[in-house]
Amino acid sequence: MKSPTSENVLKALADYLAEDMLACNREIIARMQSDVPLIPQLAAHLVAAGGKRLRPLLVLAAARLAGYREQGEGMRHIGVAACVEFIHTATLLHDDVVDNSQLRRGLASANAVFGNKASVLVGDFLFARAFQILTAGGSLPVMAILSAASATLAEGEVMQMTTQNDLTTTVDRYLQVIYGKTAALFAAACETGAVVAGADEQTREALRQYGANLGMAFQLVDDALDYSADQAVLGKTVGDDFYEGKVTLPVLAAYHAGNKDDQEFWRRTIEDSDDGQQDGDLEHALELIARTNAIDVTMDKARDYAQAASDALDRMSKAGLAANADMEPLRQLLKDVAIYTVDRAR
Ligand code: IPE
Ligand code: IPE
Ligand code: MG
Ligand code: MG
Repeated sequence: MKSPTSENVLKALADYLAEDMLACNREIIARMQSDVPLIPQLAAHLVAAGGKRLRPLLVLAAARLAGYREQGEGMRHIGVAACVEFIHTATLLHDDVVDNSQLRRGLASANAVFGNKASVLVGDFLFARAFQILTAGGSLPVMAILSAASATLAEGEVMQMTTQNDLTTTVDRYLQVIYGKTAALFAAACETGAVVAGADEQTREALRQYGANLGMAFQLVDDALDYSADQAVLGKTVGDDFYEGKVTLPVLAAYHAGNKDDQEFWRRTIEDSDDGQQDGDLEHALELIARTNAIDVTMDKARDYAQAASDALDRMSKAGLAANADMEPLRQLLKDVAIYTVDRAR
């Protein structure tokens, strides 16, 4: 057998859930339509570019793992999965405007092609449409979880903006930001899957914790990749976080481990990212990050969260596990998704 990688573990999960994913993708295409042509045009640009579809996969996997048995027309977990991907897509549109990012999913970002105004407004549409999809399913608890996660997500992005250019930001504060902007939606994806399946409280909590820890690992890796990835594979611009003066763990670790000159460099480039940066600064930042093993520090932390995610799946209720013993391969796949997410290249 091929040795597991993030890529083939995700593919195995998508294959396992192939029918559900097909229905989810159909729902995504159908629900991004609008009589205002720019909306489907811009949305299609992003959707056609691909994306890992990780969050809807988590909804579908959590639902099946927790015993959701419906097949065919009217499956409720499909709408929830599509809703979660719509929320994610809306935040990407807004995020690329805020971060001034020019590349997304290997293509020119929507803001680069259609402009900031169109991106913000279509992001609003997708966000509203996400909740419209949910009303069809009619579950108040699912609504409550996803609306709370959306508020947390926005708080995370705002909090990040206020820590930007500020090297006094603590690691705890940084972890709070990434919980808000990324992990909260992962947690909600898994929890709503469990809710749709009618899981007991213990299983619901275990799945929520799986999602939260996976989301933390995922964003830590994202922040490492921003300084270490192969841009062509990543599909996003390497160095974006540096140019924006974002205070992520690779920077914090390098800053704290640096000597006086290094710290002076970080203050000039991060605290005054608009005017303080010059040609060659990113290259020097990469040298300092390499010298202080700041990527390793970040990846070690990601690995801890990935392990915590995997461990959370051992805390599903005994009754739930017994009733869904046929789902054991899926549980193993989700553990692999967590463990191998730290190896991902995009
Ligand atoms: C990008 O998420 C935003 C982060 C939380 C880092 P993904 O890496 O899941 O983006 P796509 O959907 O696969 O493009
Ligand atoms: C991702 O933050 C979080 C959200 C999309 C809300 P980043 O800004 O790090 O994500 P990328 O790197 O642009 O995908
Ligand atoms: Mg961004
Ligand atoms: Mg990033």
